[in-house]
Amino acid sequence: MRIIKNLLLFTPLFFFLACQGPYHKDEKKPIKIGIQELAVVEEEGEAEEKESMTETPTLDNKGVGPITEVEISDDINQDMAAAGETTFNTLCIACHQMESRTVGPPLGKVTKMRSPEWIMNMILDPDAMLDEDPVAIALLEEYIAPMANLGLSEEEAREVLEYLRTQE
Ligand code: HEC
Repeated sequence: MRIIKNLLLFTPLFFFLACQGPYHKDEKKPIKIGIQELAVVEEEGEAEEKESMTETPTLDNKGVGPITEVEISDDINQDMAAAGETTFNTLCIACHQMESRTVGPPLGKVTKMRSPEWIMNMILDPDAMLDEDPVAIALLEEYIAPMANLGLSEEEAREVLEYLRTQE
């Protein structure tokens, strides 16, 4: 008698659960897949955006740091460029070549890619740039190593910029 009673009690419950189960699963599944796919698409999109930021010109961006305006004349000042070359070959060459990527990016075309202010801020205050400037942050993510603060004076940084202009 008890068994029958139990059966009578649980059978509807069993059918109820049996019906509910798959119904729930079916309902959840597409939503879950939807979120996963969305996450993948977002990651790919972000990576592409960052890479294109390091490889496309961002000449309107002056960066953050002590330099807000640099005067550039069409002619290259050869004395400044020569002094900049010496500084470059002493302090920068360990991590930068002109044509190829080493520890840091190649700098041969950097004056076509970045504004003079941005370049000087990157030399004079890389820490602030790597904290706040979106292009510098994207570069750090790509190269892993941070750009070094070598304690150049503004004048020395300006001379290095003049030397980099001779590479265009
Ligand atoms: C210890 C290695 C190291 C030294 C030394 C170094 N840099 Fe860098 N530099 C990097 C790295 C790594 C990056 C890219 C990643 C980042 O910004 O953190 C970079 C980025 C740069 C950029 C931005 C390049 C771009 O594609 O926009 C410029 C400009 C630059 N460096 C100039 C210089 C100059 C000029 C010197 C010498 C005064 C110098 N660096 C010395 C490692 C170095």
